[in-house]
Formats: sequence, structure tokens, C-alpha cells
Amino acid sequence: MDSILIQGGVALQGKVRIQGSKNAVLPILAATLLVGENSLIRNCPRIADVYAMISLLRSLGCSVNWQENALSVDTSAVSRGEVGSEAVTGMRSSLCLLGALIGRCGEVVMEHPGGCVIGQRPIDMHLSALRQMGVVFREEGCRLRAVAQRLRGAHIVLPFPSVGATENVLLAAVLAEGDTLLEGAALEPEITSLCRYLQCCGASIEGVGTGRLTVRGGSALHGASFAVPADRIVAGTYLFGCIGTGGSVFLEDAPWEEMTAVLEIAERMNCRLCTSAEGIYVQAAPRPAAVNFIRTEPYPGFPTDLQSVALAVAARGDGDSLIRETIFENRFRVAEDLRRMGADLKEQGVDSMLVHGVETLRGTLVEARELRGGAALVVAGLMAQGETKVTGCRYIYRGYENICRDFRELGARVTGA
Ligand code: EPZ
Repeated sequence: MDSILIQGGVALQGKVRIQGSKNAVLPILAATLLVGENSLIRNCPRIADVYAMISLLRSLGCSVNWQENALSVDTSAVSRGEVGSEAVTGMRSSLCLLGALIGRCGEVVMEHPGGCVIGQRPIDMHLSALRQMGVVFREEGCRLRAVAQRLRGAHIVLPFPSVGATENVLLAAVLAEGDTLLEGAALEPEITSLCRYLQCCGASIEGVGTGRLTVRGGSALHGASFAVPADRIVAGTYLFGCIGTGGSVFLEDAPWEEMTAVLEIAERMNCRLCTSAEGIYVQAAPRPAAVNFIRTEPYPGFPTDLQSVALAVAARGDGDSLIRETIFENRFRVAEDLRRMGADLKEQGVDSMLVHGVETLRGTLVEARELRGGAALVVAGLMAQGETKVTGCRYIYRGYENICRDFRELGARVTGA
């Protein structure tokens, strides 16, 4: 079912468990290709992007099977690097297969991972870094062939802490000859969890959690059992859903240590937070306070993936908020649908939005065009008076196991897949 129906105006109450992280599990699944044995990836979220990655791995000859909430991945039979084009074009996160397959097979042919609604999503940093490691790229129509006769370690400096480029360098460096020093690496928790998985498999990586990573090449890797951390973006989505509806909820397993910037904004929206080893308890005011400035930044700054949801909540804020997007050039696309719900949003230049909070949003028909904008429209529907129908929900299912079930567990009146 590609649409979600929401009868809004209910303050969320209760407890919900936070799923495993999409952006952590995808590079880890790619990394299993380096191991050539069986790995057990636990707390794996059942989301569309994982299903797509599973079909990519199977197209390469891997055996992948669910064992309850874990994925058993055996990559011993992988022989070639031809990635099935049907899955690659639609999924950005397959890009991390590039580094893994170059490491494992020395060659890979894949379709150019396309841009998407939120931006062009260029891959120049990936290509430039891998070229320094001896990879030769050839465009073959809309496909990209990458070949490395001898993958060698290098001293790489990223001009921007690109998450994906950091992942690709790590995945290529582990099996390369010689050491790799990566400076300007992304600091996102998903990089740390990828490094932890690789270390469990026997890789030697120093500087984990910093922007300066040293990878000792030529490691002989073995399989490992690894638990995927909880998804900080899903936790933030539900946190803002609670703030927008004036509710009080417990987010079980929420990785609050990775959400400092998010919790800071949440508190400025006038809610009370209590964090513990078990998760985050949040008690919101009946109406969120306006936040005069939110700026998205690379980790540990406020994450771009929660900008749309924060925009939706600020639309009901008690006052004016200003939100600046510094990571993706087109992440305000969701504004046109929020305006249809009565939001008062004014572009300020090319990267900022001035939000004049309104007392109530009104339910109507809206369309999700990408993952996090779609989640923001669901949150807006929870806050709105009347019925909201969100179409295009296939985008939402890429990253949320079951957003309808989760919000229903918190008392929302939501029907959909
Ligand atoms: C990852 O995308 C995440 N995706 C994104 O989450 C997230 O928004 C992003 O990191 C930033 O945190 C996955 O992990 C699967 P980047 P990625 O490379 O790796 C530019 C979601 O909703 N850039 O850090 O593609 C790029 O255009 C998704 O879960 C280049 O210019 O992000 C962007 O402006 C959306 N050249 C900025 O850097 C390059 O070669 C950040 O991109 C690479 C990136």
C-alpha cells in the first residue's frame, strides 16, 4: 500500500522500540564482501534498502538468509564484480559496494548511482580517493567500470567529511597492500560502527571516532557476529513527532549519546528529556517553542536527515524559526507540501527557510518525494487537525521498518502498510 492515512491531533503517548540503523547496516553489509566467510549481522532492520542490498549481494553469488532479526551473510562464493543494474540505479547506498568489490575482486561494473530529489549527489570525492589507491575508472555509457591491478594504501585527504567517501576508502583500504592514512574522514556514528565491524573481522584500524583514520592493509579477515546500533534518525523522527503533538513517550534503545545536537534543539522546543541506558524519555509542551536558528552540519552537528522533520514541527511552533540546510542543495522540497497543510514558510536565500509558526496545521493530501521528507509529512499529519493522506510512501519504507505500526503503538490514528 503506497499511502498512509492519518487522523491527526492526538498527543503521542507510550513506548516504542527504535530499530537498527539503516545508514549503519548498509556499509556493514557491503563490508561482508571483504570477509569471504559467514557473518551474522544482528538487529538488522527490515527496510526496503536492506532488501535491495540483499538482492545485490545475492546477485554477486552471496548466500543471505534471515535468522529472526539477524542476517546470515556468506560471501565465500563471490567471484565477480558485476552489480545488477536494476538494484543499483535506485539506491545511493550501493555506492559503498564500490570500495568493497574493488577490495575483494579488483574490478566492478555498476550503474552510476543516480542523484535524487535532495540533490545531485556527485561522487567526485569517492573517485578521486580510490584513484589515489590505484583504481582506474572508465565510463561505459551509464555504467562505471573500476579496475585495480594492485590496490595500494595511500595518504588521502578528503576536502569534505563525506560519509560515503569515508566508507569507500575504509572498505578499499582494508585489503589493499600497505597502510592508508585518511584525513578529513567523516565522524558520523555509522563510520564508527563500520570500523568496529571490520575490527571484529580482524582489520587493524586506528583513530576510530576521529577524522584521522589509519588502516593497516593486507589483513586476513574472518567472519564475525555484530549487532547493528539503533537508528539515531528514526529515534529523532519519533522524538520530534512527540514534540509536535505535545505528547510524552519513551524511545527504547534510542542512541542518545549520538544525538546531542538533536536533544539540544528538542529542549529548545520546550520539552523535558530524561536519558538512560535504556533510551530517552521525552515530555513535550502542548505546543513546541520556536527555535530561532537550526543549522544542519556534519556530525556531531544537527543532522541533515532530521532537518525536514524539524521544519514540520517548527511549522507549528509558537513563534518564528530559521532553518539553514548546509549539506544537500534541495532538502527543502518538502516545504511545498507543508504549505498545503497551512505552514507559513518563506525561503531566505538558497539555503534557509523562515518558519512563522501557526497554531494548527490542517490535514490534506500530500506526496512524499524522498525518505526523510516523507517522514516529515507523516509527522505533520500527526500534528494536523483532520485527515492527512500521504502518498509515495515507498520512499518512507526505504528507511523506516513500520512507521505506521510505531506511531500506532504511541496512540496515533494511522492506517497504512
Ligand atoms: C550519507 O549519504 C547518508 N546515506 C545520508 O542519509 C546522509 O544524509 C548523508 O550521509 C550525510 O550525513 C547513507 O548513509 C546511505 P555525503 P552520503 O557523501 O554518503 C557532497 C538518508 O536519508 N558530496 O556525506 O551520500 C554531497 O553532494 C540519507 O538516510 C560531493 O560533493 O552523504 C552532499 O552535498 C540521505 N562529492 C555532501 O557532500 C562526493 O563525492 C554530503 O554527502 C560525495 C559527497
